[in-house]
Amino acid sequence: SQPLPFPPIKQKKYSYTNATTGQSIDYYEIEVKPYEQQVYPGLKKAQLIGYDGTSPGPTFMMERGREAVVRFINHSPNDFSVHLHGSYSRTAFDGWAEDVTKQNQYKDYYYPNKQSARTLWYHDHAIHHTAENAYFGQAGFYILHDAAEDQLNLPAGNYDVPLALASKQYKSDGTLFSPASETDSLFGDVIHVNGQPWPYFKVEPRKYRLRFLDSSISRQFKLYFQDPAGKTVPFHVIASDAGLLSSPVSTTNLEIAMAERWEIVIDFSAYSGKNVTLRNNRDVQKDEDYNSTDKVMRFVVGTAVTSQQGNAALRSSFRTVPLPPAKAGVDRSFRFERSGGEWTVNGVTFADVKNRILATPKRGMVEVWDLINNSGGWSHPVHIHLIDMEIVSRTRGKRSVLPYEKGALKDVVLLGTGETVRVRARFAPYDGVYMFHCHNLIHEDHDMMAAFNVTSLSN
Ligand code: C2O
Ligand code: CU
Repeated sequence: SQPLPFPPIKQKKYSYTNATTGQSIDYYEIEVKPYEQQVYPGLKKAQLIGYDGTSPGPTFMMERGREAVVRFINHSPNDFSVHLHGSYSRTAFDGWAEDVTKQNQYKDYYYPNKQSARTLWYHDHAIHHTAENAYFGQAGFYILHDAAEDQLNLPAGNYDVPLALASKQYKSDGTLFSPASETDSLFGDVIHVNGQPWPYFKVEPRKYRLRFLDSSISRQFKLYFQDPAGKTVPFHVIASDAGLLSSPVSTTNLEIAMAERWEIVIDFSAYSGKNVTLRNNRDVQKDEDYNSTDKVMRFVVGTAVTSQQGNAALRSSFRTVPLPPAKAGVDRSFRFERSGGEWTVNGVTFADVKNRILATPKRGMVEVWDLINNSGGWSHPVHIHLIDMEIVSRTRGKRSVLPYEKGALKDVVLLGTGETVRVRARFAPYDGVYMFHCHNLIHEDHDMMAAFNVTSLSN
């Protein structure tokens, strides 16, 4: 296997002064362009299209309070729309599916960076082509730091490692099989981390912060770490989609669905000179075509620790998570279903332009939504743009709210088979029409996506 690659850190071109706020704005440029990747030696190269010609795209390292403008330039044949997933962006910069940028055009996206520290990611959101564009490479990390988190002395720098998981399928000639004509799912049997199938990563025998993102178009994972004796290695979950939990949650496995981000701290100090394997036991045993999907990557633990930064015991408390206040009742409910070959939300597809705005929450108000999975054996990770939500309950299925989901703020929540998930969120800070949808990108493209319109109280 090959070493774990790291996407380059994106450098700003220059800064200028925002004439309205007087604050400095950092300006970046990204080119969406074709590139090639040799995955199978001796076979053809895979033809990909990525941000700056890499996948994952370059990583943005952002500081809370520094606004940014990113110019995305289209040097690819396909239309794109860019969504910064996890940001409360204004509607014009949120990657609305129909707001596409064509070949040889560009669009400037403004990002406020006013939220607290969290792991975001940017990815394509073009109408009916999101699965294909994200799968062929248009996805990258966007990490927001802040002073409050920096003071917690968590593992930083080389000990803070973003890991984008993805699952893909190749043809026998070495090129990538396209999801473009799929209507259900593309699970894929080749597990990639940061673009490389089943890589290894050399670590020191000490604590690491790992930022997991499931950037797959359809595959979910249940991750666990295994030592050479076959024993499971425990770790702490420290953060969710919207940043730090209130305190670390000890566990031996981590469920992660498409678009979710979960961050953990794991201590390799007991494994000096040994290997620790990251494995998956979700959706692996059912089909011989997928018999290597129980492996993800390998950590090769060295014998020397070169820095003690962030290597002390974790604090017992990280922060007060700004959860929305409790309220009685359910304001709205949404059924995620399948009807006549299409995937629907309350019977509507995104193509149903007249009916697709399913909710009009008032800006600043807290609402409780029931997300109901009525689609038989399918599960759906549901993403609501703009807001951070608390998971109130999970019922009707086999699972309840997971230990690390309790008291966490999320922007995606998995509706497992038959489940109803109740969430609570404050609809703020902006007015406007935002999307919510299934993040199985094939379901999203076929057309399990709707919208809500946040309106001012005075309207
Ligand atoms: Cu990560 Cu609407 O998308
Ligand atoms: Cu779905």
